Amino acid sequence: MGMFSAFGQILLILCLLSRKLVCNADTPCSESDRKALVDFRNGLRDPENRLSPWNGNDCCQYGFWNLSGQIDPALLRLKSLSYLDLSLNTFQGIPIPNFIGSLKRLRYLNLSDAGFSALAVDDIKWVAGLGLLRNLALNGVDLSPVWSDWVQVLNNLPLLNELHLSGCGIFSPIPSLQSVNFTSLTVIDLSFNNFDSKFPDWIVNVSSLLSLDMSNAGLNGKIPLGISELPNL
Ligand SMILES: *[C@@H]1O[C@H](CO)[C@@H](O)[C@H](O)[C@H]1NC(C)=O
Ligand SMILES: *[C@@H]1O[C@H](CO)[C@@H](O)[C@H](O)[C@H]1NC(C)=O
Ligand SMILES: *[C@@H]1O[C@H](CO)[C@@H](O)[C@H](O)[C@H]1NC(C)=O
Ligand SMILES: *[C@@H]1O[C@H](CO)[C@@H](O)[C@H](O)[C@H]1NC(C)=O
Repeated sequence: MGMFSAFGQILLILCLLSRKLVCNADTPCSESDRKALVDFRNGLRDPENRLSPWNGNDCCQYGFWNLSGQIDPALLRLKSLSYLDLSLNTFQGIPIPNFIGSLKRLRYLNLSDAGFSALAVDDIKWVAGLGLLRNLALNGVDLSPVWSDWVQVLNNLPLLNELHLSGCGIFSPIPSLQSVNFTSLTVIDLSFNNFDSKFPDWIVNVSSLLSLDMSNAGLNGKIPLGISELPNL
């Protein structure tokens, strides 16, 4: 099997794990990928039996998901996995598994509103290992205990395009990102947090910014003038 088709399939397969994305695979799974997916599935509670097609050689199906249970490290065997969307499931407060940080090819990670918790500082440092990440969405994950580590985390994600941390329970000021080389950051969503601090000045230096959502984030004081000079916002 060519690299491209394996890559394409895994991308399609994993996009399906969210409730809303649809799937359009026209080729069967490779045996090793299918085995990894079956092991991954066996850790999950899947009340609607949405993942049953993985018994055959069809990895793909439209559907609405309500997955819970455990995230099996079998995912690590999907060597070309670049897109992982587990949003809108009901994982019932289990921590986000650290091994996600070993999926070095990930470019897109969406764990929003899936019932995950980030219980301890060590539970989130793995994000820093995902150097190829373009798009990170952790909406609804409680990041309040780990927020102070985020400058370090973000410093390791120079290719990041989109950062979605809405409703993450963040209550301390947004650390300065002056030293971060965010030449490609286009979307920042920090809405629905409890910063209780002034509007962060450093945002005026994120010149690639297209979209900024700081609504209901507990920010006070003036919006820096430079915001209106961001060329693409
Ligand atoms: C989703 O799964 C959880 C845990 O298994 C269950 O408590 C809940 O009732 C399910 N929700 C729906 C809409 O099926
Ligand atoms: C993440 O998933 C949620 C829920 O499925 C969706 O609304 C949101 O657009 C996704 N975020 C990104 C950045 O794709
Ligand atoms: C920032 O990153 C871009 C793209 O990776 C690179 O071209 C540029 O030289 C970097 N700038 C600095 C100051 O590190
Ligand atoms: C923006 O960047 C300039 C040039 O690097 C720097 O002097 C300035 O302090 C930065 N402003 C903020 C608010 O970070």
